[in-house]
Amino acid sequence: MSSKQILPSEEIIQQYGSSLVGKTILITGVSGDSIAGELAIQLSAAKPHLLILSARAEDRIAPIVEKIKAMAPHVATKFLKMDLGDLNDIKTAVDTTLHDISKINHLACVAGIMVPPYGKTKDGFETQFGVNYLANFLLVKLLLPKVRAAGVGASITLVSSSAARTGKIDFEDIGFSDGRTYEPLTAYCQSNAAEVMFVKILAENWMVKESGPSALILVVCNHGLNHSQSLLDAELSSVSEGGT
Ligand SMILES: NC(=O)c1ccc[n+]([C@@H]2O[C@H](COP(=O)([O-])OP(=O)(O)OC[C@H]3O[C@@H](n4cnc5c(N)ncnc54)[C@H](OP(=O)(O)O)[C@@H]3O)[C@@H](O)[C@H]2O)c1
Repeated sequence: MSSKQILPSEEIIQQYGSSLVGKTILITGVSGDSIAGELAIQLSAAKPHLLILSARAEDRIAPIVEKIKAMAPHVATKFLKMDLGDLNDIKTAVDTTLHDISKINHLACVAGIMVPPYGKTKDGFETQFGVNYLANFLLVKLLLPKVRAAGVGASITLVSSSAARTGKIDFEDIGFSDGRTYEPLTAYCQSNAAEVMFVKILAENWMVKESGPSALILVVCNHGLNHSQSLLDAELSSVSEGGT
């Protein structure tokens, strides 16, 4: 296969999906129109044991659960209510909803925000830095023992973006002078660069020490362009603000 060849996800699942049979998979960012929602539906075809679907509100995952029940009635689903803009909520969600889950074979951190107007998370961080990077950092830290407990072939995937390539971390002023110098795209690139660096450092510090058959698979990826609702919203707001 050439490096430029793109396989439809259905084909990938057909070829490699047998490794997901009976597995527990946690996906963040699940909603009717998100990439994570589609991922959940497609993965259900591979007969995992349990899909843990995370969103801020249960009604966001409802249409996805309905489709999974229709397509793969034997696949169990569990709702994980978690606001990635609130570090305390992440900890509470993991402690309460996941206390009885001992192993997670695959963790897919897909939730993210793209170029919103300036805002802050509950903890006071610029929203994109907080949601796209800090939240994933904490979630991975909290769930690492459960993923490691799943053993050989377990994986953690963070969805970033090609925006990471031009991203720079402004260590002197991560929060854009409290919004005064905020540029949505620069902040998006910064948050994505932070995600990529996090996975790289995690891989270097951990995987190298733990190489061998029990090693985790750590991935940070860009899935390509998809015209999602948040991109549409960003485009509409740039049009209404006189942008292109
Ligand atoms: N779309 C693209 O073309 C593209 C390209 C490259 C990379 N990406 C990356 O791919 C990921 C997913 O993109 P997408 O197109 O699926 O975006 P999307 O349609 O906007 O979906 C984002 C998901 O993240 C959730 N989310 C946002 N803020 C959250 C928070 N504070 N707590 C919990 N969940 C939150 C949203 O929940 P709500 O429904 O509650 O808002 C939604 O389910 C993002 O990380 C993005 O950076 C996207």
